[in-house]
Amino acid sequence: MPDISSEKSYADGRILQHVTDGVGVITFNNPDKRNAMSLEMWEGFGEALTSLRDDETVRVVILRGAGGKAFVSGADISQFEKTRHNAAASEEYAKRSAAQRALLAGYPKPTIACIEGFCLGGGMQVAMLADIRIAAHGSQFGIPAAKLGIAYGYDGLKHLVSLVGPSWARLLMYTGMRIESAEALRIGLVERVFPESGLWGETMAIAQTISENAPLAIKAAKITIAEVLKDESRRDMDAIKAIGTACMDSADFREGRQAFMEKRKPQFQGK
Ligand code: COA
Repeated sequence: MPDISSEKSYADGRILQHVTDGVGVITFNNPDKRNAMSLEMWEGFGEALTSLRDDETVRVVILRGAGGKAFVSGADISQFEKTRHNAAASEEYAKRSAAQRALLAGYPKPTIACIEGFCLGGGMQVAMLADIRIAAHGSQFGIPAAKLGIAYGYDGLKHLVSLVGPSWARLLMYTGMRIESAEALRIGLVERVFPESGLWGETMAIAQTISENAPLAIKAAKITIAEVLKDESRRDMDAIKAIGTACMDSADFREGRQAFMEKRKPQFQGK
């Protein structure tokens, strides 16, 4: 059960946030529209990410959709006529939503997308920016940009290509097709698939395992993997070295060694 005192909501309740046992949860809550993202929701999402980032009790963040039918069905198309009708308006729209995605892209804590139902367009962007994707059987994934006449930006495609490779990225983008969880698993778009009834429990179990591990060791992995994915010319080897030093000099590393020798569970502090 979520701790009620930790619950917060943004964007008129369309973005929900709670914390339970070191795990922060953000819920996209617009089920009547299959959790389509309005600009207000993008901004609320950013506020929730910031709040959980700054909460020292939170060690990992799960993103999920409300209602059981969708993770996120993309940007709210009903807003396009007003906010995204031409290149100039689109740029402003992209800037406002991209600022929130940038928060997720550079997030200092591990993130997991827990996907049940449709995961489309902007929903795919969010899911692909998470560190790990766990999905229910019967979920559907796609980027229908070509069906709407939308150019998908560099960041979105960079993550798609790095997850599924250029050929699958082309097939998905040229056709706008939707694929099911089994295929998403096979091509590397999601890491694990579970029956709907087990999805939340399995996702929480992974999150809890992460939350009990040494935060600095996880941070070192997160930073290093992100740098591996950058072009060599832009790679920050100093950042890798700095987190490596902090980790190996940490009280947690001492605790990890001692707990192993004493055959007990380690208690990590993130220091
Ligand atoms: N933006 C705005 N409204 C959306 C939406 C979106 N991205 N996705 C779904 N909705 C709305 C529908 O318009 C519908 O509203 P209504 O009840 O007022 O008619 C409601 O959500 C339910 O959608 P519906 O199509 O009836 O449900 P479904 O289960 O048959 O299909 C989807 C769900 C997600 C497959 C389908 O709605 C869809 O294709 N949505 C658009 C996806 C898309 O193109 N996303 C990319 C945007 S960049």
